[in-house]
Amino acid sequence: SQPKPLLGRKVIVTAGATVERIDPVRYITNDSSGKMGFAIAMAAQQLGADVHIIAGSTQIDPPDGIFLTRVESGMDMYNAVIAEWDQVDIVVKAAAVADYRPKEQAVRKMKKTGDALTLELVKTLDILETLGQQKTRQFLIGFAAETNDVEKYAMGKLLRKNCDLLVANDVTLEGAGFGTDTNVVSIYDHNGLVVGLPLMSKKDTATYIMNLAAERLAGVPDN
Ligand code: PMT
Repeated sequence: SQPKPLLGRKVIVTAGATVERIDPVRYITNDSSGKMGFAIAMAAQQLGADVHIIAGSTQIDPPDGIFLTRVESGMDMYNAVIAEWDQVDIVVKAAAVADYRPKEQAVRKMKKTGDALTLELVKTLDILETLGQQKTRQFLIGFAAETNDVEKYAMGKLLRKNCDLLVANDVTLEGAGFGTDTNVVSIYDHNGLVVGLPLMSKKDTATYIMNLAAERLAGVPDN
């Protein structure tokens, strides 16, 4: 049977898109389908982990047999992750989190008034960066969706957010990024590029990532 290097490990995977409400019927979100995050969750479970998915909005059904919590905003997502922080061994942040949210959330549906409307947006909490600051033994895997200067931005995010691994997808490449069943990723650690993977299914990409995490975790004393 398949080796289970993540047996006894607790893994949290965030998947999908966060939703930031403008009013009861309107919101800001993005194109994340949930496919990458769900594939990570399934790969982790296959490798023996106890997996919890924290999902925003997704365009596909979640995998059967994996515990899942639905959230809406980035703040909800953060609260759901932090609630289990002390028990978790690996956190994979595959979700696409809105960087800005409306400053005010209208309680009632906003009415059409003038020809132009200005929405004031404020920064959301950076979940990954906040987790990175609170990291003790947790192994943190971030993602980065980039359109240019992938290595520069990926390394910047890895260091700023204190990740152990960062998975960068160049979303301009055919078959990579949002909505597709495949991805093209490069994986970084503190020393730079670990591996650049070719076009692969999200399933195989996820298995590669979680095997690498298992290897790295096994190499850490007292972990
Ligand atoms: O769901 P799919 O359709 O399969 O698409 C997969 C994907 C393209 C969404 C996925 O592979 C991916 O790249 N996810 C991260 C997208 C993203 O938000 O990247 P970013 O470069 O903006 O953020 C970097 C990292 O910080 C991410 O791990 C993100 O979860 C995290 N972040 C970002 C902003 C924020 N406020 N809080 C965060 O935690």
